Amino acid sequence: MTAHTSLLSAPLEAFELRLREVLRSKVEFIELIGEDLVTAGGKRFRPAMVFLASRALGDPDPREVDLAVAVELLHSATLLHDDLIDDAETRRGKTAAFRRYGNAVSVLSGDFMLSRVLRLLSDLPQSITAEFAETSMRICEGEVLQFQVAAYGDYSLENYFEIITAKTAVLIASAVRVPALLTAAPAEYLGALDTFGLEYGRAFQIQDDLLDLTADPRVLGKPIGGDLREGKATLPLLYLFETEHEQEARSILDRRAAQEGDVERVRDLAEASGALERAREELRSRAARAAEALRVLPPSPARAALEDMAWAAAERVR
Ligand code: IPE
Ligand code: IPE
Ligand code: MG
Ligand code: MG
Repeated sequence: MTAHTSLLSAPLEAFELRLREVLRSKVEFIELIGEDLVTAGGKRFRPAMVFLASRALGDPDPREVDLAVAVELLHSATLLHDDLIDDAETRRGKTAAFRRYGNAVSVLSGDFMLSRVLRLLSDLPQSITAEFAETSMRICEGEVLQFQVAAYGDYSLENYFEIITAKTAVLIASAVRVPALLTAAPAEYLGALDTFGLEYGRAFQIQDDLLDLTADPRVLGKPIGGDLREGKATLPLLYLFETEHEQEARSILDRRAAQEGDVERVRDLAEASGALERAREELRSRAARAAEALRVLPPSPARAALEDMAWAAAERVR
């Protein structure tokens, strides 16, 4: 961690304790999946964002810990479901849960986590319940739209941005919005945090999509090439469609990268044609918009930490 460790160490410690408490269950398999989640080392940047937004708005409300746990649990439930949907091998460096416990246990444990989110929300203001409801709805829409686009072969930049906004960015926006809702912060602060979260979230998913083509899977903690195998046309591929390599790139996507060397071929074409660089530029411009949006908030160490997170979006390797 960075210079902001001092800002975050106490709340993140409280977060880990509360997360463990909330994941407790009488049923061993649910406990085991929860245990993996706590120990497997997710980046926890969404809870960090809850705490930073909370501090950027003034004195933190003690209920921020439950907000952070609710955000991380919603995220974790989507990962349990997403890995089954995407047929992923690993998550956070470990064999994906559905491969160890089976589909039913994995899906139901995700549902257990969602139920815990509902329980946490029942002690919080109604505006926050509405926020979470809207966000989980949008995540589902984003994931389904991704399949619909693959089924119709309806690949476009417009669809791509709609998918990444819904499946990834809205939850990140919620992470920074909920502290503002909790303290009924002024509308302009809520708007600034909303823009920050959405633009950071888009940048984050663009980097995830770049890493799916270019990363070392051992560092990443999850497999690469999955997007092509699942028929997802991510930003580097969409830009590749705009070059002379369009036909070859489309055939690889159509056959779901089933031939040896397909993923490496797309990566090499995307690198050589400038498609990767173009995607990186889009990422940087989204990250810059995220950081700029925060200028509406009064300057503070917490605001600076959020800005730094935005500037670091392009450097992320896991
Ligand atoms: C993975 O999120 C899902 C995406 C939105 C790309 P993270 O990369 O934040 O996953 P963890 O929590 O660190 O494992
Ligand atoms: C983000 O998309 C998924 C969620 C909203 C859960 P991906 O399918 O690209 O995420 P990873 O790469 O599996 O983490
Ligand atoms: Mg996935
Ligand atoms: Mg991915």
